[in-house]
Amino acid sequence: MSRPWWHTTSIYQVYPRSFADSNGDGIGDLPGIVGHLDHLVDLGVGAIWVSPFFASPQRDIGYDISDYRSVAPEYGTLDDARTLIDEAHRRGLRVLFDLVLNHTSDQHAWFRESRSSRTNPKADWYVWHDGRVGSGGRRLPPNNWRSELQLTKAWQWSDEREQWYLATFLPFQPDLNWRHPDVRSEMFDTVRSWLAMGVDGFRLDIFGSIMQDDQLRDNPRRLDLSFGLPRVQQPTNTLNTDDNFTLAGDLRAVCDEFTPPPGTPEIPGAGERILLGEVFGPAETLRRYVRDGERDGLHLVFLFDFLTATYSAAGYRRLIERFEVEFPDPLQPTYVLENHDRTRSLSRVGGDLAKARVLATMLCTLRGVPVVYQGQEIGMTNRYIPLREADDPIPGLLARRLPEAVNRRLPERLNRDEVRTPMQWTAAPGVGFCPDDVAPWLPVNDNRSERNVADQSGDPSSLLSLYRTLLALRAASPALSGSSLHIVDSDAEEVLAYERSDGEERLLVVANLGARRAEHAITGGADIVVATDPSITVRVAGGGRSTVRLAANSAVVLRPA
Ligand code: GLC
Ligand code: CA
Repeated sequence: MSRPWWHTTSIYQVYPRSFADSNGDGIGDLPGIVGHLDHLVDLGVGAIWVSPFFASPQRDIGYDISDYRSVAPEYGTLDDARTLIDEAHRRGLRVLFDLVLNHTSDQHAWFRESRSSRTNPKADWYVWHDGRVGSGGRRLPPNNWRSELQLTKAWQWSDEREQWYLATFLPFQPDLNWRHPDVRSEMFDTVRSWLAMGVDGFRLDIFGSIMQDDQLRDNPRRLDLSFGLPRVQQPTNTLNTDDNFTLAGDLRAVCDEFTPPPGTPEIPGAGERILLGEVFGPAETLRRYVRDGERDGLHLVFLFDFLTATYSAAGYRRLIERFEVEFPDPLQPTYVLENHDRTRSLSRVGGDLAKARVLATMLCTLRGVPVVYQGQEIGMTNRYIPLREADDPIPGLLARRLPEAVNRRLPERLNRDEVRTPMQWTAAPGVGFCPDDVAPWLPVNDNRSERNVADQSGDPSSLLSLYRTLLALRAASPALSGSSLHIVDSDAEEVLAYERSDGEERLLVVANLGARRAEHAITGGADIVVATDPSITVRVAGGGRSTVRLAANSAVVLRPA
């Protein structure tokens, strides 16, 4: 049975500002991406997701949009966006844009107008409310809602309009009012205009935060820790409300307008347009974004658990088993080890490249859609940058409360600049990202001479070569793009093993996540297809059994004989 392209693809995240600078201003841009598409073809991914490059004051590096239909001048032009899509398609790559539907920049013309009075034509394009009056006439927001990170209130006061506006993420990112029909139709038309240009789909920014409780009920108070940050309330009335599931279905319908009906021969670059949601919550909630009752919604949702999981066979096994139960075929789990918001995975495992190789092997051989963040394929790491030097707006909220000495030692990086440093193409001072005599917008990581595309390309033992081998195998292997995964028990505690198969092919993945050598017994013999370490062997043990011997932190893909 032929499966939709997005069941078997792999996605590469491009963070435009840090990917490649084509005109020497120290800022990555769209022509820079076009100029490096061949790297992605060589890597073997199926699609790219490009973080926002639309007009923006860049206070949240493009996640604060001031015009959805134009490109920020430092990134290029609409023509460059078109060229990006066309050149990617010509190479067989799909392209996903990043849609920030929840909020605009406070510099967007819509917001300026909306803020100017209570009666202007765009007065209700954002979520405005009167506040409450506290003791002594103190001005209080409409309710107790906190922003998504809970570092600030979700409500911001406007002197101009003398009302509060909702800003779920940061104060300069006012939430659009999705209950307003004009907002919906304007945003859906924007989506249509990108679809008409040929984009294959979208990554949806904080999609679960788009619509809040319309009666403005308070969130219940409860203290806990999530992603390393203290939370004081449960987002019951602000996150994943029923209206967001309905919106997922509505947006799906817009995408389906552009999808050729089933049976249409596949045209290169065309096909089903997809939605990949950045949503948070328990599995039932995430599944409801994919299908709500009888209605299809998002095609894929990010599963972020691997971003924070501790490196261990038992821990990963539990997660994989859970994803298999919670997202059974035809649902597709996604596997994410890093992105532009979170600690680099290699830094998370203490900079141990052997562990990064094990993770790469798992990522590319599990069932579902792997997502690779730029630089992950060459083992880029966090580059420490103090909170007060950050471009990222989040550290600004923390710098006063969090001493730098403490920040420096936290395992979870709060300054997202640290994971957004320029992509390391070469060992040169400008890492091939920008000319050597230009200062890039963020400093280059010190490890440029060991971690760069040029040097790793020619080295068969590099992480990049491993990623290429694995992604090529994945694309060619019916078993790896198939719909079945079975965990295989092992006598060795730190070994994680699973079998991937379809009618014609069977592959076995065995990973040793322990610090010591390990052995795993299999029935019959097996050939090594890919190994992360040259010392891995399969020895016939007699009695129709064989033994896979694995070095510490190593993994192998086997073809049972
Ligand atoms: C998402 C993005 C993040 C951005 C935020 C607000 O979480 O991944 O980078 O700051 O939304 O748009
Ligand atoms: Ca540039």
